[in-house]
Amino acid sequence: VNRVPLLAGNWKMNLDHLQAIAFVQKLAWTLKDASHDFDAAEVAVFPPFTDLRSVQTLVAADKLSIAFGAQDLSMHDSGAYTGEISGAFLAQLDCTYVIIGHSERRTLHAEDDTVVAAKTAAAVKHGLVPVVCVGETAEDLEKHGPSAVPVAQLRTALEGLDAGADIVVAYEPVWAIGSGQAATPDQAEQVAAALRDVVREILGDEAATRTRILYGGSVKSSNIAGFMREPNVDGALIGGASLDVNEFSSIVRFQK
Ligand code: G3H
Repeated sequence: VNRVPLLAGNWKMNLDHLQAIAFVQKLAWTLKDASHDFDAAEVAVFPPFTDLRSVQTLVAADKLSIAFGAQDLSMHDSGAYTGEISGAFLAQLDCTYVIIGHSERRTLHAEDDTVVAAKTAAAVKHGLVPVVCVGETAEDLEKHGPSAVPVAQLRTALEGLDAGADIVVAYEPVWAIGSGQAATPDQAEQVAAALRDVVREILGDEAATRTRILYGGSVKSSNIAGFMREPNVDGALIGGASLDVNEFSSIVRFQK
């Protein structure tokens, strides 16, 4: 199966637009120096909204192969939604991706599976690739086992999408996010395989074969290779470790 791995850095609420320019420039130089093959492993960053115009300008001016996206979007197209950002605006800024349903959105902004589904549909409608995040808490894990909650979350998120929809799924166990305690490659593989079955069930075989499933949660350069060896793990969504150019570059240049 030929899925190009995606190594994606979720900056969360870090790096202002000036820092973003410096970061992306340094990332591009570092990867160029290391002769990184972007066709073999795609690289994406997810800066705050206010950085996107700067990143777009830099990527276009220097013809960089680094993709970028936003960390959230509105389920609405336009209108009286103070503080919200339309997928149409993100598409205009050349965003390829948009993260949806990150556990911090689910927890801190009460986004439930229905909201995640509406945002996923909005992203696809505007030509963005949604990076749909799912994952269980430590309590869910104890009560329901590893796959039940992420599987149920993904099922709702994908309902109503066309089979041809281009999506990415990110499995992020909540207990592994920012904790330093990553899942094991085995655990990630087990859930990723179950999530691929959900993609197959809802969007069909072709989508299941093509869709990339990422692992996220305390990924760093010292553990990335283990995840990348798993057949159903097609990359990573990296938080803390994506804020250090050298560390993120090492993750991107993982060795299987
Ligand atoms: O979106 C990224 C995840 O929340 C992972 O964050 O790498 O800091 O654990 P982390």
